Amino acid sequence: MFTTLSSQSSVEIPADLFGAIEELKQELNGIILAHYYQDPDIQDVADYIGDSLGLSRKAAATDAAVIVFAGVHFMAETAKILNPEKLVLLPDLDAGCSLADSCPPQAFAQFKAAHPDHTVISYINCTAEIKALSDIICTSSNAVDIVRQIPADQPIIFAPDRNLGKYVMAETGRELVLWEGACMVHENFSEKKIVQLQIAHPDAEVIAHPECEPAVLRHASYIGSTTALLKYARQSSSSAFIVATEPGIIHQMQKDARDKTFIPAPPMNSCACNECPHMRLNTLEKLYLAMKYRTPEITLPEATRMAALQPIQRMLAMSH
Ligand code: 13P
Ligand code: SF4
Repeated sequence: MFTTLSSQSSVEIPADLFGAIEELKQELNGIILAHYYQDPDIQDVADYIGDSLGLSRKAAATDAAVIVFAGVHFMAETAKILNPEKLVLLPDLDAGCSLADSCPPQAFAQFKAAHPDHTVISYINCTAEIKALSDIICTSSNAVDIVRQIPADQPIIFAPDRNLGKYVMAETGRELVLWEGACMVHENFSEKKIVQLQIAHPDAEVIAHPECEPAVLRHASYIGSTTALLKYARQSSSSAFIVATEPGIIHQMQKDARDKTFIPAPPMNSCACNECPHMRLNTLEKLYLAMKYRTPEITLPEATRMAALQPIQRMLAMSH
């Protein structure tokens, strides 16, 4: 039994999409890697769900022939940098990232030139061109640890997320030269509404991603990457949490701890939750179509890939 996809009226979508995706996975010798901000359906069909560090490690280790990346462009691109010989598919090639877009390569090259002798540490949420201009890549789960491994007298540029950079500065006591980028989702949480939610739910703990503004982070009892937030929510004795990150992660939090309550932190606009419009471009239908037709594929120039590979490998070697 098939239905048709309205925007692609000639394309047939099987009624049992989960079954069809499983069959294609076998056919392709493929692996589906998904980020926690993906639609619950996509998370449920994935072979591995993780934060950016976990996904990079999995991409580096897999022996599958095809990597189907349910995430955004920079994540799939990282998988391709690590696996030039593999086919890397992204269900929607337009699934970008406002943070990566906030750091154009030409402007960043000038910024870097204005700070000679600085070690460049870039958050993985950036393009391959920015990675190629960097010395070390980091993620939200290892940024503090990586900065601590750099000698104290060595000046550092940290890009592109100013909020993660400020958080790392606070944790390490180091001065970092920050690129002024931000994530459109995490900079948009409303401190005022979070405080109102705390008053309405006095037993709830605020847990937050370090991409949030400092004004939000100061209300958090725990700050960490998506995987760290998930682990914390599982282990904490609290029964309720106000979750200041993209609400896709609540699907796993709820699966892990069915008796606990997870309240998405609200944004400054009138919406109740704060979904990433880039992450949410991927759908289960598009995932199926990408696997069936082996497109859209991630490609990048070999010189850029080679230059971007080294700082990623340094990160993997420096991560515990
Ligand atoms: P992590 O899952 O690595 O914490 O990253 C969050 C994020 O914003 C990904 O786009
Ligand atoms: Fe980029 Fe923010 Fe979306 Fe993550 S949540 S993909 S950092 S825009």
